[in-house]
Amino acid sequence: MTDKTAHTGKNTGGGDVRLTGISKAYGSFNAVHPLDLTVPQGSFFALLGASGCGKTTTLRMIAGLEDPTTGTIHLGDTDVTDLPPYKRPVNTVFQSYALFPHMDISENIAFGLRRRGIKSVKKQVDDMLELVQLGDKARHKPHQLSGGQQQRVAVARALINHPQVLLLDEPLGALDLKLRRQMQLELKRIQTEVGITFVHVTHDQEEAMTMADQVAVMNGGRVEQLGAPADLYENPQTTFVANFLGTSNLIEAEVLETGGSDVLVTAGGGKLRVPGDRCTSAVRQGGKVLVGVRPEKISLAHADDAGSIADGRNRVTGRIADSSFIGVSTQYVVNSPAGAELQVYEQNIERDTRLVPGAEVVLHWNPAHTFGLDAAQDIDAGVETVEDAG
Ligand SMILES: Nc1ncnc2c1ncn2[C@@H]1O[C@H](COP(=O)(O)OP(=O)(O)OP(=O)(O)O)[C@@H](O)[C@H]1O
Ligand SMILES: [Mg+2]
Repeated sequence: MTDKTAHTGKNTGGGDVRLTGISKAYGSFNAVHPLDLTVPQGSFFALLGASGCGKTTTLRMIAGLEDPTTGTIHLGDTDVTDLPPYKRPVNTVFQSYALFPHMDISENIAFGLRRRGIKSVKKQVDDMLELVQLGDKARHKPHQLSGGQQQRVAVARALINHPQVLLLDEPLGALDLKLRRQMQLELKRIQTEVGITFVHVTHDQEEAMTMADQVAVMNGGRVEQLGAPADLYENPQTTFVANFLGTSNLIEAEVLETGGSDVLVTAGGGKLRVPGDRCTSAVRQGGKVLVGVRPEKISLAHADDAGSIADGRNRVTGRIADSSFIGVSTQYVVNSPAGAELQVYEQNIERDTRLVPGAEVVLHWNPAHTFGLDAAQDIDAGVETVEDAG
C-alpha cells in the first residue's frame, strides 16, 4: 500500500506537529497559557485533563478553527499558523459525529472525495470500509448502526482525505463504558495500521493511558506533565498528576536527611525512605514534603504479624476504617498517624480474615515505589470528585 508508506517514516521528525508559545485568551481569561508542545509524527498523542482545562481550545487552534492569541503552529517545516482550516492537512472527528442521515455509509465516507470533485471513489471507500471493519454495512444508513459503528464511519470519513494529522475531540464520549473500551482498542489498531499522527482529547485517564504513546496532562490551561503513560503513572511530578492519573496516597512529611541515594523523611512519628531520583528538586532542598505511594504497591499486615515484615521496607501503622471487596482485589481505607484515609489495594490471593474494619495493621512497601513531591501545592489537586465521575 503506497499510501501507508507515505505516512510513516516515524523517526524523520519531518511531520511533527510543533506548537510554540501557543496561547488563547478570551478577553481577560486565559483558556490556554503559552505552551510548547511537539507531537511526533506517526504517534498517538493524548491531551488529558478535566473539563475546562483547554483541551478543545488547543485542538481547535491546531485545526485552524480558533486563532491563537500568541505563538505559532508548524506541521513539519511548514508554518500553518495563518492558514485557514481547509488548507491544513488536518481532519477532525468530534464527539457528535454528525453523519449525513440520508446518505448510506459508503456515501458518508466518500463525501470528502466527492466534494473535491473526485469521481472514482469506490476503491478508496472499500479500503476505508475494510480498515474500520464495516464492509458489510456499506449500504446501511447511519441510524441502522450502533454508536461505535457510527463513530468508526466518522473516523473513516476523516481518514479518506489522507490527513497528515487526525484530531479527535472526545470521540468516544457518547458511548457506554463497554463500547468505549472496545473502540479504544479499535482506534489504536487503526492508528497503528495507517501510521497517521492522532491527537486525541479526553478527560478519561484510563482512555489516555491505554491508547496513547505520549500523554500531555493539562490543568488550568497549562501542560503539567508530558510523558509515556507508565512514566506519568510511576513518576508524577505534581500532586495534580499523582491524583488525576489513578490514585495516590500523599503523606505530609519532613525531610531528615538528603545525603545518600535515598532521602530520609519522618511522617506520623515513623521514618520513610524515598529514592533521591524519584524526588522533585524541591524535596532535595529539605523542609516539608509530600511522600507518595500508589495503593497497589502497599502490603497490609495484621499488627500481630508486624515482626515478620522484612527489614528495609517502608512501614506505617494504622487502623482499617473500611474495606470493599471488588473481586480481583480488596480495597482498604486505613487511618494512620501518617495520614487519614490511606488507600490500599490487595489482590485476592490469600485473604487474611483478620483484616476487617477496626483491625490494627501495618502498611509496608518497597521504598523504591515511593516518590517525593514539593509540599507547596494543593495535596488534593486532581482528586476526582463525585460530580466529575462518569
Ligand atoms: N468562545 C469562548 N469564549 C469564552 N470562553 C471560552 C470560549 N471557548 C472556551 N472558553 C473557555 O475556555 C476554557 C477552556 O475551554 P475548552 O473548551 O478548551 O475546555 P476543555 O478542556 O475542552 O473542556 P471539556 O472537557 O469540558 O470539553 C473554558 O473555561 C471555557 O469556558
Ligand atoms: Mg472539550
